[in-house]
Amino acid sequence: VTLDLVLVGFGNVARRFVRLVEEKRQGLARDFDLRLRIVGIITRRHGTAHSSRGLDAPGLTERLESGRLVGKTDNRPSVRVLRDHLARHAASARTRRLVVVETTTLDVGRGQPAVDHVRASLSAGAHVVTANKGPVAIAYRDLMRLADAARRRFLFEGTVMDGIPIFNLARETLPVVSVTGFRGVINSTTNFILTAMEGGETFSDALSAMQKAGIAEADPSLDVDGWDAAAKACALANVLLDARLTPSTIHRRGIRDVTSEQVAAARRMGRRIKLVASAARRDGKVTAAVEPVELPSDDLLAGLERQQNAIIFHTDVLGELAIVQLGAGLTQTAYALLSDLVTIARDIRPAPRRARPGRSLGWRGQR
Ligand SMILES: NC(=O)c1ccc[n+]([C@@H]2O[C@H](COP(=O)([O-])OP(=O)(O)OC[C@H]3O[C@@H](n4cnc5c(N)ncnc54)[C@H](OP(=O)(O)O)[C@@H]3O)[C@@H](O)[C@H]2O)c1
Repeated sequence: VTLDLVLVGFGNVARRFVRLVEEKRQGLARDFDLRLRIVGIITRRHGTAHSSRGLDAPGLTERLESGRLVGKTDNRPSVRVLRDHLARHAASARTRRLVVVETTTLDVGRGQPAVDHVRASLSAGAHVVTANKGPVAIAYRDLMRLADAARRRFLFEGTVMDGIPIFNLARETLPVVSVTGFRGVINSTTNFILTAMEGGETFSDALSAMQKAGIAEADPSLDVDGWDAAAKACALANVLLDARLTPSTIHRRGIRDVTSEQVAAARRMGRRIKLVASAARRDGKVTAAVEPVELPSDDLLAGLERQQNAIIFHTDVLGELAIVQLGAGLTQTAYALLSDLVTIARDIRPAPRRARPGRSLGWRGQR
């Protein structure tokens, strides 16, 4: 199977994704008979590029990182540029081999222009994989309906806990289990800042370190004011608890007002302050919240250091189920996009027999 990919957004995540595709090229071909061809790149200010035969994406990654454009700039709204790209690949769309990889900047208010990018892609017969929380946090139900009607995939594993398979876990491995709520630390930047403050570092030094690593959002308020965690909490609640929440309507308080003194005082009492995102269904209604909480030391979430994340799911059959992420970063997010592409390839063609156990398992021939 060869999938043609149009990348909308070519920032930290997309460029790491391009490199990961190169690193895993042989393994993808050997184990999944999968080849990935990047035919389009669309950015906001750094130009656009297209080639039906496939772009030299690693070369364009270096080009952009040395301060040059990937191609000609196009001042039209990005959704129109995207529609033009998609129209050139109608043949691969018809055979379900066209995928849009959406990694534009998070807009927590309206999810735009990402929501329009997803709609335009599905309408043109492309699958969509995204690391952008906006569409799932704000328009999940509509977009899923559109994807189902178009018989295409809308996948978003990278939106919560990077490469850790949260949504795949629920979708593929927990049949008949109902998730009734969750509690978690799901924003790496704020956990890094809080643990750095415990070690005596300043808030702003810790935030700069996260910005330099490409982990913090382009607008740091999205992290420190709890917006990113709120978007993830809504994505989880909408998908796993069948909720209809949006980030601006849930209770949200970030860590901007948390002082070094409060962090140190909690520490002296053997407690730790964490930014906790939670949701629960009560009397048929789902509510969610994001706020700093002082946790006792024996709480699993209190043990999380620096960029570590964890979610504890409450379920009807399995009781509490915890997923802990010890390593978070761009590679993990890029991996999530790659794993979503493998899911799409498996829809088109099951993994060949020679794939080693553990790599080919899980195929159920969905859709
Ligand atoms: N960084 C992480 O660790 C991480 C982890 C999980 C999820 N995410 C999510 O992944 C997405 C990308 O993150 P990132 O760190 O790669 O961001 P980034 O480095 O800021 O890159 C964003 C990219 O999107 C492009 N873009 C923005 N608005 C656009 C528009 N209207 N049309 C076309 N292109 C547009 C930008 O183009 P210009 O540069 O030309 O403006 C840039 O190429 C975000 O939604 C983020 O929340 C990030």
